[in-house]
Order: sequence, then structure tokens, then C-alpha cells
Amino acid sequence: MILSIESSCDDSAVAITQIATKKLLFHKKISQELAHSIYGGVVPELASRLHAEALPKILESAKEYILHVKAIAVTNEPGLSVTLVEGVTMAKALSVALSVPLIGVNHLKGHIYSLFIEKEALFPMTVLLVSGGHTQVIEAKSLQQMHTVASTMDDSFGESFDKVAKMMNLGYPGGPAIEKLAKNGDRLRYKFTLPLLQNKKIAFSYSGLKNAVRLAVEAGSEDDYADIAASFEHIATKHLIYKLGKYFQNTPPKRFAIVGGASANLYLRSQVKEMLKPYDAKLILAPLEFCSDNAAMIGRVAVEMYEKRLFSEIDSLHVNPRSSL
Ligand code: KG4
Ligand code: ZN
Repeated sequence: MILSIESSCDDSAVAITQIATKKLLFHKKISQELAHSIYGGVVPELASRLHAEALPKILESAKEYILHVKAIAVTNEPGLSVTLVEGVTMAKALSVALSVPLIGVNHLKGHIYSLFIEKEALFPMTVLLVSGGHTQVIEAKSLQQMHTVASTMDDSFGESFDKVAKMMNLGYPGGPAIEKLAKNGDRLRYKFTLPLLQNKKIAFSYSGLKNAVRLAVEAGSEDDYADIAASFEHIATKHLIYKLGKYFQNTPPKRFAIVGGASANLYLRSQVKEMLKPYDAKLILAPLEFCSDNAAMIGRVAVEMYEKRLFSEIDSLHVNPRSSL
């Protein structure tokens, strides 16, 4: 079995995955959303302290598996440095105590492997990763061959939902709150400009849209919030769809996946489904419970890395807050 740890942002999670069958035997996550909610976003030092409390508690409830553990996996990149270090420190201690190898897992690969929990991996595929920290299109060919072909020039898709929610005092995380509010709103009432429309580059940008929404919030009242949320969600999604469409003109997808916390957004899912129709491409989605950060996806990557003996020495496993794929 592999014990995996995730602490790259505001979720403390531990999983136990059986190596031979890829079966998820244990998964527990403690989210800190409530603690950060009053600040409208994640406060790194607070998150770090809460991981230090939560991780040992979760580990305690996984203790029946400990003697069967053959490797310790941990997210070591990318993420918040002060929170990554909590997971990495615990992983190193466990690796020494149990005399088992250590596996450093890239969080973005984790999100991609959230598609394959308790399943065989399936490549190649084109992936849209939408989370609080990332908005990327990735060509994934195998565990070790993943290339980012488009990314955001400023804010990420999920982050823009968090920021818009903060403007309307909806708490953190903003994604689910905006999605809920938008259901009762008029998507076409506010004509926000589609970002990077004149720019030929296949890239994303959310800071201009965020500022346009801020002006609408300031000019309106609470009665307008549902329409603002719906119009924002519509344009934020249309921007993704428009740029994906441009990308597909030269690189039509055969298999397409959406991963990351914001892939739970049902409006985004429906719009992507619609745009894929002419391509006859299969849409792959992770179960909702594994869209947001979790340790099961880290354990799933670690099974592949274990089989390839991709281990890290204790002294060379570092935290890389800004690394990409
Ligand atoms: O993958 P994740 O749990 O953490 C990161 O790796 O960043 O993603 C969290 C992000 C947050 O920004 C959250 O607001 C966004 O995903 N999110 C959503 C939805 N659910 C979560 N964004 C839009 N619609 C949603 N339903
Ligand atoms: Zn994530």
C-alpha cells in the first residue's frame, strides 16, 4: 500500500491506495474553508498551522494500514510553501520511521490522475485544468510526458470566482457560491467583454473581467448580484470555450478531460460538452468528490511512480511552490 499526503493549499488529506489493484482503501480530508471564509481567501500561515493540527489526526485514523505501507507519497509542488512543507515534513518522518521510500508528487499531475482513481490510466488526452491556482490546457501523453500548451496570463479561472464572490461577501471558496447564485440570474444582462478576443494567442486572462465585475457590483445593489454572478460565469466560461475552440482548429481532440476544483462547475461542464459535439471526442470527468484537492489523486500518481521506482532521497525532496508540470 501507499500512504499519500496532500497539503498544497487549504485541504489536509491522507489516502491509502493498494498498489497492485489501485483500490482506494482509505481517504480522509479535513477542509479549512470555514477558517479562511471570513478573510475571503486562503491565509497561508493560518493554513499551515491548521495542517499541523489536522494531518496527525487523520494519520491516527489510518493507523490500521501503517504496517502494510510500502512507500510514502506527498505533494511537494506546486502550492503554498508554508503548507507544502507540513505534508513534506510528515512524509519524511514517516519514511524514516517505516524505512520505506519517499515519492514526491506534482499536484497538477495529481489533478490529472483524479480521472483514474481505481482505474487504469488512459492516454493520450487533452486536459483543461481549472483550479484556484491554475488555468491550463495540457497535452498529456503519459505520466512523464505532459506539456502545457496554454495558460493564464494573470488570475486563474477558480481564483476569479473567489475574487468575485469576495466582492459580494459570499465567503470562500467562491466557485460553488457563485454557481449557486448564478442559477437564479440572467446570464445576458451584463455584457462583460470577452477577454483576449483580439489577441491571437491561445492564452487566458481573468483580471480584466474581474475589474469589470467590480464596477458592476459597485454600481448595483444586492438585487443585481444574481444577474452579475450569472453574467460573470457566462463570460468566464465562454472565454475558455472560445480559446479552446481556437486551439482545436489545429489540434482536434480525441479525448478531452476537465480536472481541478473548478471542473465541478456544471455550467462549464455543459458548455464543454456542447463544444465537443462536432469533434466526436470523448469527455472525461473525475467524480465530483475528487475534483477539489484530495490525497486519493496523489496516491494514484504515486502508484505509477512506485512501479517505475521514481523515488526521492530524503535530502533531495524539496518543496517547489512555483513549479509547473
Ligand atoms: O483544485 P482546487 O481544490 O485547489 C487548487 O488546486 O487550487 O480548486 C479550488 C478552486 C477554488 O478557486 C474554487 O472557488 C474553485 O476551485 N471551484 C469552483 C467551483 N468549485 C470549486 N469554481 C467554479 N465553480 C465551481 N462549482
Ligand atoms: Zn488543486
